[in-house]
Amino acid sequence: MNLAAGIPVIAIDGPSGSGKGTVARSVAEELGWHLLDSGALYRLVAVEAVNKGVALDDGAALAKLAAGLDLRFTSAADGGERILLAGQDVTAEVRSEEAGRGASAVAGIEAVRAALLGRQQAFRVAPGLVADGRDMGTQVFADALLKVFLTATPKERAKRRHKQLNDKGIDVSLAAVSRDIVGRDKRDSERSVAPLRPADDARLLDSSGKPIDEVVQIVLDWVSSI
Ligand code: DC
Repeated sequence: MNLAAGIPVIAIDGPSGSGKGTVARSVAEELGWHLLDSGALYRLVAVEAVNKGVALDDGAALAKLAAGLDLRFTSAADGGERILLAGQDVTAEVRSEEAGRGASAVAGIEAVRAALLGRQQAFRVAPGLVADGRDMGTQVFADALLKVFLTATPKERAKRRHKQLNDKGIDVSLAAVSRDIVGRDKRDSERSVAPLRPADDARLLDSSGKPIDEVVQIVLDWVSSI
């Protein structure tokens, strides 16, 4: 008997910079549900590959690495998220642009996706899960209670990402961020395995020009209407 099947999941998918990480976190907090940031798993595989000297195109070695990741998500005293790899705090590395690019590369390898599937599904714990990623609604939680596909115009997504990086003290031009976003979108949507696309039964939500609170409220209203 699959006990997890009765536990509700809200899948929030969408491209980089659509705001899905922030929205997923707020929705999980409001509902008191667990949160899965699936992108962090792909980022961790990329970080660990660099640490262990594994090439980002060595599918077999990467899949082995993905299956054996010793990871833990926790929160710091200030409430901020902390990601631990074998007990070491790797939050900053995981959130770096380099890890994002590496993640996009390893995410195209089917064996890596297969190795991470069960780990992602294990986050489905009562009372419920809010899962953010690219294929939460199409593959990992195809039976999700609610599937949201969050978008925003590429210009708006680049502006948000640029601000985030500047706030972190990273000096990068808007044009460079924009190129990176367009490249990442293309790779994520054109890959043959689990490409970024809305599930047939997903509700589309365009966050362009909307304050985050409004987007969160729309999702919460959808949840209450089910
Ligand atoms: O959401 P993010 O920026 O942390 O994701 C990093 C990369 O991982 C992104 O380029 C696509 C990939 N990814 C994926 O293929 N499937 C997921 N469920 C989550 C992320």
